[in-house]
Amino acid sequence: MGAPLKVLLLENIHQVAEDQLRDEGFDVTRIDASLKEDELVQRLAGVQLLGIRSKTQITPRVLEAGKDLLAVGAFCIGTNQIALEPAMKRGISVFNAPFSNTRSVAELVIAEIVMLSRQLGDRVREMHQGKWRKLATGSHEVRGKTLGVVGYGHIGSQVGILAEFFGMRVIYYDVATKLPLGNCSPVASLELLLQQSDFVTLHVPETPQTKGMFGQAQIRRMKLGAYLLNNARGTVVDIDALAAALKDGHLGGAAVDVYPEEPVANSSEGFKTPLQGLGNVILTPHIGGSTLEAQEAIGREVATSLTRFARSGATTGTVNFPIVELPLTPGTFRLVNVHHNVPGVLRDVNKLVSDQSANIHAQMLSTNSDIGYLIMDLDNNVTEAVVEAMRKLPTTIVARAI
Ligand SMILES: NC(=O)c1ccc[n+]([C@@H]2O[C@H](COP(=O)([O-])OP(=O)(O)OC[C@H]3O[C@@H](n4cnc5c(N)ncnc54)[C@H](O)[C@@H]3O)[C@@H](O)[C@H]2O)c1
Repeated sequence: MGAPLKVLLLENIHQVAEDQLRDEGFDVTRIDASLKEDELVQRLAGVQLLGIRSKTQITPRVLEAGKDLLAVGAFCIGTNQIALEPAMKRGISVFNAPFSNTRSVAELVIAEIVMLSRQLGDRVREMHQGKWRKLATGSHEVRGKTLGVVGYGHIGSQVGILAEFFGMRVIYYDVATKLPLGNCSPVASLELLLQQSDFVTLHVPETPQTKGMFGQAQIRRMKLGAYLLNNARGTVVDIDALAAALKDGHLGGAAVDVYPEEPVANSSEGFKTPLQGLGNVILTPHIGGSTLEAQEAIGREVATSLTRFARSGATTGTVNFPIVELPLTPGTFRLVNVHHNVPGVLRDVNKLVSDQSANIHAQMLSTNSDIGYLIMDLDNNVTEAVVEAMRKLPTTIVARAI
């Protein structure tokens, strides 16, 4: 057994991830801040697995310095901070945690549905100001109301299930065909969803198609007095059109967690949105996924992906690599190879194996337009010799015995 893999964790990643990686026998160094490019470049010598969150920028220069880097774990959802394509071309696989905070978002949506239908935000604020306003006007039960979910993915589908426990009728609109969970049902168009829904909750990703997809026309097609919830991405909704529809009473309220432009750091003043000061409008600072449970789940999910990649070569959960996963077979010896996707690589690799008089027990290859990723199990323990020979092939980017 060789030296333990060297792991560097930055940005105060959840303790559960550090524990999991140490338990695996890796040599883990932890730094609780993010590092600037110059410092990171110096710290990367010998590091094979790097864990970051959203602040550390993984630039082409950082990747160049990370000569031993095999994988980067983004202990968050977004991966914009990482130069994904240059990483892929260097044979560095990047993992993130796309699902770990989805339940947290769904729970916030459920809370907001009840808050909006009882004007809870306004009543709470008034009480803090010393105003006693006991009203039933404009307050409703959510039971029996229709919830329209736009984007029935990981979050939207959980919102639907939870809302049914409140006795809501749930419909959804999605561009893809999705299995309806519980008793909810799909509708054929956004138009149909808007006509029927008392609450509309958005759960689409940020794409060129969803940018501004909720503009004046869509907002005005919502039922009179309906509520709009946006916990997806700030660019999806035309925020001025939303403010206008709230001011003139077309909508009964809104809950907004995401904005077209968001501050990069916490501050005690200076944030501005046209929605401020409007009645029955819940504004939150992009906290949908921000719970301790989500942080822990992210820690587990990414640490697991990194461990599986290191121990078996599996790239399930990668965001920039061909996906290959091959179950480990006892008594066989594994190696992995990342190569330029050109004709003849498999032929050359297989020849190196037969040159060592070894037999291939299993082999799995997947490619994208730039690279190929191969996992191979041999019957004889000659992986080091084969890897040495592979490294001399002009097509090889990374070769590693596991
Ligand atoms: N507020 C927060 O803190 C927070 C936290 C996590 C995720 N999010 C955001 O929530 C959103 C949903 O996340 P998810 O994990 O459920 O994503 P997901 O990819 O699982 O689901 C998105 C769904 O939207 C559908 N879709 C895509 N384009 C569409 C369109 N034009 N019209 C209708 N449906 C469309 C997809 O087919 C998919 O089913 C994302 O924008 C994500 O960034 C916000």
